[in-house]
Amino acid sequence: MQGLLDRIQEAVTFIRQSWQGHPKVGMILGTGLGGLTEQIEIQATIPYGEIPHFPISTAPSHAGRLVCGLLRGVPIVAMEGRFHYYEGYSLQQVTFPVRVMKALGADTLLVTNAAGGINPQLELADLVVIEDHINLMPDNPLRGVNDDRLGPRWPDLCEPYSRRLLGIARTSALELGIHVHKGVFVAVPGPNLETRAEYRMLKAYGADVVGMSTVPEVLVAIHSGMQVLGFSVVTDICLPDHLEPVEISKILANAAIGGQKLAKLIPRVIEQF
Ligand code: HPA
Repeated sequence: MQGLLDRIQEAVTFIRQSWQGHPKVGMILGTGLGGLTEQIEIQATIPYGEIPHFPISTAPSHAGRLVCGLLRGVPIVAMEGRFHYYEGYSLQQVTFPVRVMKALGADTLLVTNAAGGINPQLELADLVVIEDHINLMPDNPLRGVNDDRLGPRWPDLCEPYSRRLLGIARTSALELGIHVHKGVFVAVPGPNLETRAEYRMLKAYGADVVGMSTVPEVLVAIHSGMQVLGFSVVTDICLPDHLEPVEISKILANAAIGGQKLAKLIPRVIEQF
């Protein structure tokens, strides 16, 4: 099979036919959070299916296209919809777009996701800026032979989420009157939600929010030398002793409310990068 670097280059060459910008930021918009693209001055929209080596998104409410353009004057490339491990992709496939964003020029990754709230202080549709993570996925996108041209064999994770960007996010939220929490995100493989016993365990581990994405993309971003800012929107409450069945429609409705807050906050944050 073709090497990863060659595949990245092919995808970049293809994207360059429609867009010649140099993104400062790569963004991944999670479940139900694609609305932010309305704020983008769009210069090119490319369906994933057309980009060489991109997987095709199967999750609901994921549009599955790359949106290129300006957000508050800052060149960005945004993934409207992401790939998940539970869809059956390898983590190398899930994270391929992050490699492409970096190769296009993005030195910052901004990730968003829909997540379950484990910390009892969290309420539906709350925003959490991610300060650290716990990886409970059964694989790692960096497993295998390392290409030193893409990043180091043993990437350091003492500050996977940039303290500086986290500070900008919290200050911006304060200025806009948007309440944000700070918390630890734990990644699980999915597709099932967790049992009561698992939520209890995740809380004991020190997690505040749980979701089925994000950590693989962050690992690859760190490997490739990008700085990272991440947000979770709380779409369901995961209190083991008061657990109710979740409905995807309610998750999407809460994601939409949180997404409106993110759509105000993220442009303000990005203009300060
Ligand atoms: N668990 C895992 N992933 C999720 C959840 C959850 O409760 N909510 C949204 N994504």
